[in-house]
Amino acid sequence: MPSALPDGEPVPDDGALPPHALAGAADRPLGFYLHVPYCATRCGYCDFNTYTATELRGTGGVLASRDHYAATLIEEIRLARKVLGDDPRPVRTVFVGGGTPTLLAADDLVRMLRAVRDEFGLAPGAEVTTEANPDSVDPAYLATLREGGFTRVSFGMQSARPHVLRVLDRTHTPGRPEACVAEARAAGFEHVNLDLIYGTPGESDDDWRASLDAALAAGPDHVSAYALIVEEGTRLARRIRRGEIPMTDDDVHADRYLIAEETLSAAGFTWYEVSNWATSPAARCLHNELYWRGADWWGAGPGAHSHVGGVRWWNVKHPGAYAAALAAGRSPGAGREVLTEEDRRIERVLLELRLREGVPLSVLREAGLAASRRALADGLLERGPYEEGRAVLTLRGRLLADAVVRDLVD
Ligand SMILES: C[S@@+](CC[C@H](N)C(=O)[O-])C[C@H]1O[C@@H](n2cnc3c(N)ncnc32)[C@H](O)[C@@H]1O
Ligand code: SF4
Repeated sequence: MPSALPDGEPVPDDGALPPHALAGAADRPLGFYLHVPYCATRCGYCDFNTYTATELRGTGGVLASRDHYAATLIEEIRLARKVLGDDPRPVRTVFVGGGTPTLLAADDLVRMLRAVRDEFGLAPGAEVTTEANPDSVDPAYLATLREGGFTRVSFGMQSARPHVLRVLDRTHTPGRPEACVAEARAAGFEHVNLDLIYGTPGESDDDWRASLDAALAAGPDHVSAYALIVEEGTRLARRIRRGEIPMTDDDVHADRYLIAEETLSAAGFTWYEVSNWATSPAARCLHNELYWRGADWWGAGPGAHSHVGGVRWWNVKHPGAYAAALAAGRSPGAGREVLTEEDRRIERVLLELRLREGVPLSVLREAGLAASRRALADGLLERGPYEEGRAVLTLRGRLLADAVVRDLVD
């Protein structure tokens, strides 16, 4: 089952925010994340808040069902309008993620987007992305999304090798993600991402090179490459504990990251966040940049997190409890916290240090500054930007990003 939510203070029934959250809102961009909590099967490594039909059986009734989902989520978008009141901001980015959004009918995704547009308006040039599993779309589905206003699609490719896909429990056949990119282009999508995972037990350097080459040959303008994380409570973690498959190895992850950087940059991609590469600044994922830069976003759907002006809250996790709250006219918020200045400073270091632009040294405190000087001497931070007052990771620093970040937040 997906991991637990944090504790926090209760969210009022009407979802109202403290007035200070909306102060200065006009100067901050606003995005929407729309979560779709359904998958056909659960991949053994995944602990996202998503449910298969079997996992949902007997819980939550008709309200938790896929057929009812778009209508329920639209209720939360209407609630967002009430909570944000006369906030005049049009929405800069919408990101539909999951789970598997493409298990819903394409018309459902378009209806959800239309609700955001009707309630808030979309900013000119707004980015509208959906995640998609390669075996749950076809050309007609993608055409409906494009005509309905989606501008970007992100496919979960993970690997081009059948034995790696098998360890990951992926259901698509090799070659299908690449075909999806062609279908998305034919439907008129300018921006297409492929997600890859490296370091899966049984994957060799050559397997990883083959996956990168296959991804690049398909012609996306964005690639995300994540080291496989063995999440507690997943089937993958249990299989590793039982000795059925070997544990992933940090040194292998570092080698694979270097292969990714070398291959992607040779193909004209540039990193802009430790795990993300794009062919140009216009091809970056604006929605993720909005998270990384502490902007405002409303996360709708079970378990989704939101952040507005230093107030962070999260919804109940189960689709049945989520739908029941909205049907009763209550906010589905399960808890919230008001971030202190220090919380926000720490968050800024954690997120911005992973970006190509880095984090201003002025955000660091004394211990963090001392750590940054050591990181510079160790070749983990770039000298040029450092002399101009910014901490920017070198390639070696990106390999050790988590450790560098831990030292710099002090
Ligand atoms: C949660 S999935 C949603 C998209 C879609 N259902 C899919 O799987 O393609 C988003 C991405 O997160 C990444 N991901 C999920 N769990 C992961 C894990 N344990 N380790 C590394 N990457 C993971 C995968 O690359 C996946 O494409
Ligand atoms: S399809 Fe995506 S969201 Fe669903 S279980 Fe697999 S990785 Fe997780």
